[in-house]
Amino acid sequence: MPTASERVASKQGEAQPEKEENQNSKSSVRRNSGRVTGCKNSSEEEVPGDVLEVLSGQNPVAVDAFIRHCNLNPDSYITVQPRGTENCLLDSPINALRGPVKLKTFVELTMDVASASPRRYFFEARILNAFPQVETLASSRSSLNNIATLNLMVLEDFPSVQIPFEWLVQLVPPLKTRAFSLSSSPSAHPNQVHLTVNVVSWTTPFKRKRTGLCSMWLAGLDPQESKGVHIPVWFHKGSLPPPPSSLPLILIGPGTGCAPFCAFVEERAVQSASGSTAAVLFFFGCRNEDNDFLYRNFWLSHAQSGGVLSEEKGGSFIVAFSRDQPQKVYVQHKMREESQRVWSLLSAGAAVNVAGSSTKMPSDVQSCLEEIISKESGVPKESTVRWLRALEKAGKYYVEAWS
Ligand SMILES: Cc1cc2nc3c(=O)[nH]c(=O)nc-3n(C[C@H](O)[C@H](O)[C@H](O)COP(=O)(O)OP(=O)(O)OC[C@H]3O[C@@H](n4cnc5c(N)ncnc54)[C@H](O)[C@@H]3O)c2cc1C
Ligand SMILES: NC(=O)c1ccc[n+]([C@@H]2O[C@H](COP(=O)([O-])OP(=O)(O)OC[C@H]3O[C@@H](n4cnc5c(N)ncnc54)[C@H](OP(=O)(O)O)[C@@H]3O)[C@@H](O)[C@H]2O)c1
Repeated sequence: MPTASERVASKQGEAQPEKEENQNSKSSVRRNSGRVTGCKNSSEEEVPGDVLEVLSGQNPVAVDAFIRHCNLNPDSYITVQPRGTENCLLDSPINALRGPVKLKTFVELTMDVASASPRRYFFEARILNAFPQVETLASSRSSLNNIATLNLMVLEDFPSVQIPFEWLVQLVPPLKTRAFSLSSSPSAHPNQVHLTVNVVSWTTPFKRKRTGLCSMWLAGLDPQESKGVHIPVWFHKGSLPPPPSSLPLILIGPGTGCAPFCAFVEERAVQSASGSTAAVLFFFGCRNEDNDFLYRNFWLSHAQSGGVLSEEKGGSFIVAFSRDQPQKVYVQHKMREESQRVWSLLSAGAAVNVAGSSTKMPSDVQSCLEEIISKESGVPKESTVRWLRALEKAGKYYVEAWS
């Protein structure tokens, strides 16, 4: 997450959502696009590889339930004064508000009332079990200070617990922005941003259905909403710099990792309309061809003759379906099959860009590249680590990973 100073340096705008019908109805991944219509604080234009920070709205039912459980008056006004740089509220949009603010607005904008932090739950439950009454809690502030996070789920399970609002502000996790790679090129879609968002959901060991705050909220927005939906967003630089059109590229982006590479390919398509562009070799991976082959038509059309991903131009689009056969097939398997092509592009000075959500994927891809370099160039495996380090130092090896 960005620090307060990073946010100040980035652009701020408002996005209005439009939902694109997925090419794949069974997938839990949505491409949400939004037209940026708000004001921007900086004149710097966004580029492929940039990231959009989105401040999620919250489920109004959860906000109301939280206010009710805490016996708060939603219409009362409060004044908030951040005390110092240590205070997490400094990193919150509430700082833009001067003077008194309605309590409900404060909760909506700054407190993640249904926060998904399951790992902390047992710890919180133990402490609240030990101190179920407000009087005991009040006399035991040090115990409360040990609670890392407090949320609606905990409050619902311990209805007798009453905690002063001043304490709630510190105990409930602050509402944080979520980052999404731009999956559209600003040159191809001026004044719009397209995102590729996986809708996060899971079931806890106690069979509670839990969903990711921001992805679920975005998925639930209605683009037909007559008044429009305004979303506070901030642009900032990601880990993938925009490549010059003359730089050959090896892109590896399974799952939602394809998001920034949609933007790269769109940008190259715009550039190729007015000049020559270098080869792009893209390895995509998903579970099933029928269920989550994101942007199938987009990739395939760019892989056709003369396209950005075409063999004619020295590139290709290669996909690994991990679950369409008994043994898993990942992007690394496809890279090994194409090792000559990978090596020939690397020898021609290509940059490698890796993006995606798997925690293991980036390191597995790196090991695979080491194998390929060793096999094709004949250098011992130990030296390939140095080879890739040199590539990284030369500004030609980038990873954007999230979990
Ligand atoms: C630079 C960057 C770029 C990104 N780009 C993209 C992108 O293009 N597309 C995209 O979809 N995401 C992207 N992300 C991830 C994105 O920022 C969010 O983290 C993601 O959308 C989840 O946010 P959420 O609010 O929906 O979930 P949250 O409310 O934040 O919940 C997520 C949390 O839920 C818990 N959780 C999730 N699954 C489980 C499970 N199975 N079991 C137990 N607990 C679980 C974990 O505690 C996890 O931290 C990117 C992240 C970064 C840092
Ligand atoms: N419920 C669904 O239908 C569904 C569909 C898509 C995503 N999701 C969820 O969405 C989240 C992120 O989704 P995502 O689309 O970005 O990614 P993802 O679906 O988790 O992964 C994309 C592809 O990468 C593969 N992969 C897993 N580990 C890898 C590794 N070490 N190296 C290379 N490839 C690897 C996956 O294979 P395997 O998963 O087969 O191992 C899959 O084919 C995950 O939490 C996932 O659980 C759910």
